[in-house]
Amino acid sequence: MREQENQYVLEMKNITKIFPGVLALDKVNLKVRAGTVHVLVGENGAGKSTLMKILSGEHQIDGGEIYFKGTKLDHQNTKSALNLGIAMIHQELSPILDMTIAENIFLDREPTYNFASLDIFVNFKKLYQQTQELLDRLGLKYDPYMKMRELSVAGMQLIEISKAISRGASLIIMDEPTSAITDTEVTMLFNQIRDLKQNGVAIIYITHKMDEIFQIADDITIIRDGQYVDSNHAGYYDENKLISLMVGRTISNIFPKDPAEIGETVLEVKNLTRDGLFKDINFRVRRGEILGLAGLVGAGRTEVARAIFGLDPIDSGEILLEGSPIKVRKPMDVIEKGVAMLSEDRKSDGLVLCRSVLENISMTNLNKFAPGLFIDLEQEAETAKNMIKMLKIKVHSLYAAANTLSGGNQQKVILAKWLLGDLKVLILDEPTRGIDVGSKSEIHKLMCKYAQEGLAIIMISSELPEILGMSDRVIVMQEGRITGELNRAEASQEKIMILATGGKIG
Ligand SMILES: Nc1ncnc2c1ncn2[C@@H]1O[C@H](COP(=O)(O)OP(=O)(O)OP(=O)(O)O)[C@@H](O)[C@H]1O
Ligand SMILES: [Mg+2]
Repeated sequence: MREQENQYVLEMKNITKIFPGVLALDKVNLKVRAGTVHVLVGENGAGKSTLMKILSGEHQIDGGEIYFKGTKLDHQNTKSALNLGIAMIHQELSPILDMTIAENIFLDREPTYNFASLDIFVNFKKLYQQTQELLDRLGLKYDPYMKMRELSVAGMQLIEISKAISRGASLIIMDEPTSAITDTEVTMLFNQIRDLKQNGVAIIYITHKMDEIFQIADDITIIRDGQYVDSNHAGYYDENKLISLMVGRTISNIFPKDPAEIGETVLEVKNLTRDGLFKDINFRVRRGEILGLAGLVGAGRTEVARAIFGLDPIDSGEILLEGSPIKVRKPMDVIEKGVAMLSEDRKSDGLVLCRSVLENISMTNLNKFAPGLFIDLEQEAETAKNMIKMLKIKVHSLYAAANTLSGGNQQKVILAKWLLGDLKVLILDEPTRGIDVGSKSEIHKLMCKYAQEGLAIIMISSELPEILGMSDRVIVMQEGRITGELNRAEASQEKIMILATGGKIG
């Protein structure tokens, strides 16, 4: 870019970051103009989140320089970065679950009473009032008194976004803010972003969703394997050019659906009901079939999946596996019978973060490697290595702790774990959330391959192209009920949206 230097609110020069055994960033550059959206793209593990965590003061640099509004920054911590006006929405959210929405948004800066020049007492009335005002302004229908744990991942993302906006920062970092939310909320977010831009706020936006990039970006920077690749105005790129710069090769078919032979019913649910969440849910999924579950955030798709998998109780209804009713009280009841689920909340349900990648991949499959009393360690390692290769998981060692992997690579580890099992039914809640374009098509290919081998797959996805591209049949839910069913040939973006918003297809 040829602009004057002083246009940049942020300049990161030659940033280097080393983790034990990993050169995460190798002399990366990033220049962001005030009042613009700068999209940062790259494959899983490219170094995007690490670069942003340096900016927000969570990591220190091992080399390079950072200038913010012309001043050189040294040894930031998260508090000093916030004070300078740099706020970050994290990829992996970790709200305090027992706090209310209001407490979470105004954590550490709650309004207080001014009492004998002491301001230690939180003014709760004002806290909730301010939160209500903020939520109203952003058009979010949440009750400030609601506990964080009652929110879905999407809800938490929206609250996190509100929090960053409410801080009045001049630079907001959004690390995959829309990975769990659907088009309607994305539109709301983009409107907010346009407002922020007009007020001179700069936004660094990380996403793997191609269509979002060109809707929102003013400038784009691409990094690959910890190295700077290119940067320019958004108009300079098109989708193909961007993908090839990101992955170093061209990818043509993003949804490679390979039809499988569809057999008899494997799993069936009858009148499944959980009061207040979903009611009279009836469907079946057959061998070799990919059943898509579509709907807006809050439609109840995740709740139904969680109930089938034994994570939440049901009030009435039946779950049948290969024709026989089964009692489901906890996940083990169904795991034993060959049902697995990739949950949307990978942090709490999917991974043991402090354990190694190897342990995470093999933990539910130990019987595979233990023909007798002892685990065949060599075979265990060999199998895990194959999975890592197949899913292109970026990890420097089998023994690296799961929490040292990038967000997208953590997701792949959970997938590897389930794919290794002898499964009959696989439930996938947002299987490619946070996964880069290249790996996404690998995962889709694997889904087709497993379906061809007879697996029945239930896939929840907020991305309509993914639903349309992968599903043999689509069930649409709205407010806890099934509002329609479409087969592959009749399913379209418009029809799904009509059913998802309570309309009738005429
Ligand atoms: N705390 C850590 N300890 C060791 N290695 C780490 C740590 N955090 C990140 N890494 C490594 O640094 C590299 C970059 O990771 P980063 O999270 O920045 O990727 P990313 O571009 O955000 O990917 P994604 O799209 O999957 O979120 C990866 O190889 C990752 O394993
Ligand atoms: Mg990341």
